[in-house]
Amino acid sequence: MTDSQDLSGMMFLVTGAGGYIGCVLTDELLERGASVRALDRFFFGQTLLKDGHRPERLTLMRKDIRDVSAADFDGVDAVLDLAALSNDPSGDLAPELTWDINSLGRKHMVHKAKEAGVPRFVMSSTCSVYGAAGDGISTEESPVNPVSVYANSNYEAETEVLSLNDDGFTTAALRNATVFGLSRRMRFDLVVNLMTLSAFERGQITIMGGGRQWRPLVHVKDVARGLIALAVGDKETVGGKAYNIGCGNYQVMTIAAIVREILPFQVQLQVAPDDVDRRNYRVSFDRLENDLGFEPTQTLEDAVAEIYDALKMGRIENGPRCSTVNWYRHILDARALLDEIELDGRLL
Ligand SMILES: NC(=O)c1ccc[n+]([C@@H]2O[C@H](COP(=O)([O-])OP(=O)(O)OC[C@H]3O[C@@H](n4cnc5c(N)ncnc54)[C@H](O)[C@@H]3O)[C@@H](O)[C@H]2O)c1
Repeated sequence: MTDSQDLSGMMFLVTGAGGYIGCVLTDELLERGASVRALDRFFFGQTLLKDGHRPERLTLMRKDIRDVSAADFDGVDAVLDLAALSNDPSGDLAPELTWDINSLGRKHMVHKAKEAGVPRFVMSSTCSVYGAAGDGISTEESPVNPVSVYANSNYEAETEVLSLNDDGFTTAALRNATVFGLSRRMRFDLVVNLMTLSAFERGQITIMGGGRQWRPLVHVKDVARGLIALAVGDKETVGGKAYNIGCGNYQVMTIAAIVREILPFQVQLQVAPDDVDRRNYRVSFDRLENDLGFEPTQTLEDAVAEIYDALKMGRIENGPRCSTVNWYRHILDARALLDEIELDGRLL
């Protein structure tokens, strides 16, 4: 598999296509000639995917993953399954909803894809399944220790997805490290992006959780490449397996130091006196390299420079949708308010 592999003639159904990773993944697929059916509730807006000139090979399907039926997979060669409430704080905000979408919804999705005869299915999973893993380096064979609703529900879905692998249905899961880098659905709740924003806005970075905790990291473009690599990689090799993806393991205080180093102005580092973050894990990325020859192409330094430029030039801004949990809180609050004020079907 190479990045120049032409995907013309292939149809990918991407769930969560309007999200942070989904926007970048959709661009990558379209650039490589594939057709994309973008299935999403579009909680962050569908204009993100439709801005500018988009090829006819992109079709949007506004739908909930919990409602898909076999007909939605018509003509699909591979599903890239990303739709989820996508971090720990969102999981804690709405634990039942998180189970319903991230575990039951994703299980429903993979069963319907199999029933419809789709040949390939790749789930975007997370390295946070390793949770509080201690000092060792976790491989895909290591025991997992998920410490949040988000991580537990992901792990349940991943287990189901991998168990359905067979001769006619190749499944794999990509366990993403914490992602960084630019996307049209920008997330400033991810450590590298947030530190860069905070340095840009306030000349200061606050290091949470003590700073000594380890985090594996990966660029959003490499995640897109990794998902595609698993969707087209040799079936015998990847079928039924989980793969970690990342460009390195970093202590949180090292990440802050790198951000400070890259930015062309003075940045103060401050360690917050809290210790709420129980996640601490280092991860091996060897399997993806050994099995598929996959290597990350983007560095943390590249991304910090890229995000800083985009902020400085006003190409991105820290809008309300850039914090995942705050945006879901707005949606839930708005729903409750609408229910209260609606009268005889009229809002105003
Ligand atoms: N970004 C990271 O650092 C990271 C790390 C590890 C794993 N992941 C996983 O990768 C996937 C994508 O993450 P992201 O950062 O792009 O998140 P995101 O929140 O930006 O995107 C998720 C998308 O899923 C959609 N969605 C949510 N519930 C849905 C439902 N019930 N039906 C249809 N669509 C629904 C949302 O509208 C959104 O567009 C998630 O599964 C996440 O758990 C992300």
